[in-house]
Amino acid sequence: MEIEIKTAPAYVVTVENGVLDRVGQIARQLEKPGSKAMIISDTNVFPIYGERLEASLKSAGFSVARFVFPAGEPSKQLSTVSEIYEALGKQEFTRSDFLVTLGGGVPGDMGGFAAATFLRGIDFIQVPTSLLAQVDASVGGKTGVDLPFGKNLVGAFYQPVAVAADPETLRTLPKRYFNDGLGEVIKYGCIEDAELFRDLEANRALSDLPGVISRCVLSKKHFVEEDTKDRGKRMTLNFGHTFGHALEKLHHFQDLSHGEAVGLGMVMAALAGEKLGVTTEGTAQRIRKVLEQYTLPVEDPFSGEEILEATALDKKTMGDTLNLILLSEIGQSMIYPLKKEKLSSLI
Ligand code: GLY
Repeated sequence: MEIEIKTAPAYVVTVENGVLDRVGQIARQLEKPGSKAMIISDTNVFPIYGERLEASLKSAGFSVARFVFPAGEPSKQLSTVSEIYEALGKQEFTRSDFLVTLGGGVPGDMGGFAAATFLRGIDFIQVPTSLLAQVDASVGGKTGVDLPFGKNLVGAFYQPVAVAADPETLRTLPKRYFNDGLGEVIKYGCIEDAELFRDLEANRALSDLPGVISRCVLSKKHFVEEDTKDRGKRMTLNFGHTFGHALEKLHHFQDLSHGEAVGLGMVMAALAGEKLGVTTEGTAQRIRKVLEQYTLPVEDPFSGEEILEATALDKKTMGDTLNLILLSEIGQSMIYPLKKEKLSSLI
């Protein structure tokens, strides 16, 4: 399926089994594609898919370089971006050449940021190979790196020129990483696509992976087209993330994955909504059941007080008001401003 994201600039997300081998062809069809491509990938993903991607780009006539960095979040920092600039400089990349990010959120976010800033911006194509990156991170142009005191604190909104999501690459994903992405899939069911949520409840969604990924991308499309810079409606995509980030921090970003944290955060947000009287009773229980069904955690050792305290202290939440994302029911979401001092009433 091809989904056009009508931001400025617009681009097409192709969700298709085997599209990994067509990335060169997709690049060739772009306006002024230049002559050189650099693949930005990590030591987990490049050994599995790097050669196929390279072959596809070469057969479309591009000369191909690669930058492969140690897999993992600790690589997502400015010093690695600096190494990417150096590699691009050495290979004499110009503004008409392009990058291809291959892998999960780390290569996509960091490679995208390098593309946004090298020579004040060169093109990049996202080739996401994790479920999380295919349904969420690769679409919408959020690029960036971490700072020693927080995740994603430096970055730019910079749209890719194309996204090629190959669901077949998910086959090699360890189960826990796959489930990590399912947290975000469930999120799309909660905030916009009640039918997707029902399909997940009925265990009939995952038999069609390209279909599920496309449904999430179609949802995300609406949010980023209306609010590319995340000042309004796009914040809805953070459903479950406010409490989820607090949990990730309490776990020192180690033994709880992002999707697992978001799952727990969605249950907390639904409970908060029920307590505030804005969410239909029983919504939190439905989310909890779906998480259990897909073996995502529904319990955490930290108390409600600890989580809310970490939420209030989050450096990314500015001022005295939190924009909590709540549901009125499954498939219907809202932005609910809440004074931080009222957080304790949600326990
Ligand atoms: N992952 C949330 C967003 O792209 O806004």
